Amino acid sequence: MLKDLTRISSLKDNIDKTVTIGGWVYHSRPSGKLIFIVVRDGSGLCQCVIEKGKISDDLFEQLKKLGTESSLTITGTVKKDDRSVGGYELVVTDAKVICESVDYPITPKSHGIDFLLKNRHLHLRSQRQWCIGKVRHTLVNAIRQFFNDNGFTLIDTPIFTGIAGEEAGSLFNVDYFGMPACLTQTGQLHLECAALSFGRVYCFGPTFRAEKSKTRRHLTEFWMVEPEVAFVDLPGILEIAENFVSFIVKEVLEKNEPELKTLGADIESLKKITPPFYRLTYTQASEILKSQKTQDFLAAQLNEFKAQKEQIEKKISELENEAKGQIKQWRQDKIAAELIDLRSDLAEIETKIENNPKHAKLASEFEWGKDLGGSDETIISLMHDKPVFVTHYPREAKAFYMKQDPENPKVVQNFDMLAPAGFGEVIGGSIREDSYDKLLAKINEQGYKVENYQWYLDLRKYGSVPHGGFGLGVERTLAWLTGEKHIRQCIAFPRMMDKILI
Ligand code: 4AD
Ligand code: MG
Repeated sequence: MLKDLTRISSLKDNIDKTVTIGGWVYHSRPSGKLIFIVVRDGSGLCQCVIEKGKISDDLFEQLKKLGTESSLTITGTVKKDDRSVGGYELVVTDAKVICESVDYPITPKSHGIDFLLKNRHLHLRSQRQWCIGKVRHTLVNAIRQFFNDNGFTLIDTPIFTGIAGEEAGSLFNVDYFGMPACLTQTGQLHLECAALSFGRVYCFGPTFRAEKSKTRRHLTEFWMVEPEVAFVDLPGILEIAENFVSFIVKEVLEKNEPELKTLGADIESLKKITPPFYRLTYTQASEILKSQKTQDFLAAQLNEFKAQKEQIEKKISELENEAKGQIKQWRQDKIAAELIDLRSDLAEIETKIENNPKHAKLASEFEWGKDLGGSDETIISLMHDKPVFVTHYPREAKAFYMKQDPENPKVVQNFDMLAPAGFGEVIGGSIREDSYDKLLAKINEQGYKVENYQWYLDLRKYGSVPHGGFGLGVERTLAWLTGEKHIRQCIAFPRMMDKILI
């Protein structure tokens, strides 16, 4: 921090004092003898009021023309003003322009998502991305705090690995000095070694999946936190998961309510996230999917979508008519921006209307044995107001390391946690197969090279104990908490199947 600069977040401690803030022009509005510049400095927004005559005429003219995202330092007296953004105003006595920004490419008019992604290096400064970044920061801290405060030791697992931890089809292969290697899909297998040393461990880092999937829920590089616990059973790990999720939600609510409001998050629903969460077996979930109740639920949803569509269309035609008339430029711009948003909402609701009968069909024809699909998870999670643990999936549908249930050999002791409001899977976890012979058979069945997994098998040979854990995806969790539709908005520099941006 340059000497003598005050951050906007500290203005509350400087009422009636003269301070200098350093930041960027977020928004500027000249109005006769006054200029209102909203400055952002990374800690908040502050409206600065410049009155002609209080500063030199040259500076007044320079500030009047100053473009969005120009950088400056600005000095003035702090006044409390509840109507002002952030609650404080600066009555300006001096300013110094550092770098004028002319024709900043991102204008207050709405832009399409492709344009914004291409301009991510600049779009990160937008209010929305800033709010998401602040919530992410709290989330990451809360994740670490929960495990640190509950007796877990942090273990950093490798990013280059030699073996598949999840589906072999989603491995990114790399040429490691002429030897085959891959980028990690999960830290779990290495973490299991550490769990037998420390008892309770976690890893937290980037994870890679070559998933040929362009959905709103998939990235090729994402962050995952994975705890692993020795001497635990399925009810025990579920209890840790629900306490953990409740803690991180509480922290975000406590620390980021203003950001959540700006983002339009469903704060009231988040307040309900307390233990216990719902528990369903996979078999129960599949019965729900095939039930008449689900069909009725989807039919009601379809009617709701149609009503929403009608409303959006009505609004669009009203705005289009208004735009044809004689109206001021600022209003034209505002309408143009609103129309872009409304048309994107319309496209989205049309897709939902188109998909609804397909999802209803998929649900009614659901066959025991298949993994739950994205739409199945959405249906189950829409029907619940708190997260749902779906447990005991068919063994064939799940990863090789999951423990076969001694009471029903067709299923494994695993769980997925589905976030509510249609969000879907945020956590995947299980108790691990601790029998050497069963694990070896599974590794062979998958066609994996046993010699690559010998160290993993050794854990079942020397002091094997019941153990398990789970993985929570940071971007999916953040999208759920903030109400963001696409997880690519929940990481600063997203990596997707069809593009690596900057
Ligand atoms: O269910 P998954 O594949 O579980 C594992 O990787 C286990 N080895 C974890 C463990 O038991 N230690 O992934 C866990 C979570 C998912 O629930 C999801 O939140 C996230 O990781 N995830 C993704 N997030 C974004 N993009 C993708 N392609 C993701 N794949 C998984
Ligand atoms: Mg999963």
